[in-house]
Amino acid sequence: MKHLLKMMDLETEDIFEILNLADQLKYEQAHGIPHNHLKGKTLGMIFQKASTRTRVSFETGMYQLGGHPLFLSASEMQIGRGEPVQDTARVLSRYLDGIMIRTFQQSEVENLAEYGSIPVINGLTDLSHPCQVLADLMTVREYKNNLEGLNMCYIGDGNNMANSLTVGCLKVGMNVSLACPEGYYPAPTVLEFAKKYPNNFKLVNDPKEAAVDADVLFTDVWASMGQEGEAEQRRKAFVGYQINDEIMSLAKPDAMVQHCLPAHREEEITTKVFEQHANQIFDEAENRLHAQKAVMLMLMK
Ligand code: CP
Ligand code: NVA
Repeated sequence: MKHLLKMMDLETEDIFEILNLADQLKYEQAHGIPHNHLKGKTLGMIFQKASTRTRVSFETGMYQLGGHPLFLSASEMQIGRGEPVQDTARVLSRYLDGIMIRTFQQSEVENLAEYGSIPVINGLTDLSHPCQVLADLMTVREYKNNLEGLNMCYIGDGNNMANSLTVGCLKVGMNVSLACPEGYYPAPTVLEFAKKYPNNFKLVNDPKEAAVDADVLFTDVWASMGQEGEAEQRRKAFVGYQINDEIMSLAKPDAMVQHCLPAHREEEITTKVFEQHANQIFDEAENRLHAQKAVMLMLMK
């Protein structure tokens, strides 16, 4: 594994190696066991979009590993004034030991990796959010002990989260049921990938159909970053695509709920269901830290 660009690139063994290392790092952190394996290394973090969790968890994680995190707001870099990503990649490779980037186009992340000579980590693009899904799988495994054979249900937009969850969950042996409105399906490449799992993948329009017997339910905002202009139209298209009591009654009695956050209460999830599952959701947020420390260690040590 040289980079983390999207879930599709990871082998199943890579995913479990990351999850196992993340568990170990979480244990070491909790018990005060030093793990400053990235002493003397610097991670540049380029942000084209807002962030709370990704920024703080990468920055803190790098510090805990003994390294130095460098926050780079794209709007204050020359890349924000049109300097090509190919040149940015080659320049940053002369200073840094790794780059994390949050941006719009997946091709920008891929170009950074192709033209640079250091590991690149995708901190969210319009297509994918692999760091989030690694934390999600880590959290589900913590609660359910095992991932294989679990039924996951995702209700909402076929966005970066739907794309990465579909690929990640299928790769670890889970059954994936998506409910998305027509016109808001996951990326064609992801649907193509899912064809390899005819018995484990289902895409429907009815959230109730997708929720039956779910072990874990996911959702995400109806309008992602960069889609603010479509918010009104999306609010109409996504009516009913919500995790609520009725949906929970169709899932298994001990079903867990995950949300990558930020959440829009009473849109994709009710306040009641959110608060009933708040511990699981904030454990998920915490696990960003541990999962990303594992990724940085594997790529940059
Ligand atoms: N879930 C997530 O990536 O959160 P941020 O946008 O706050 O980084
Ligand atoms: N789909 C959301 C995820 C935020 C973490 C977005 O891209 O804005």
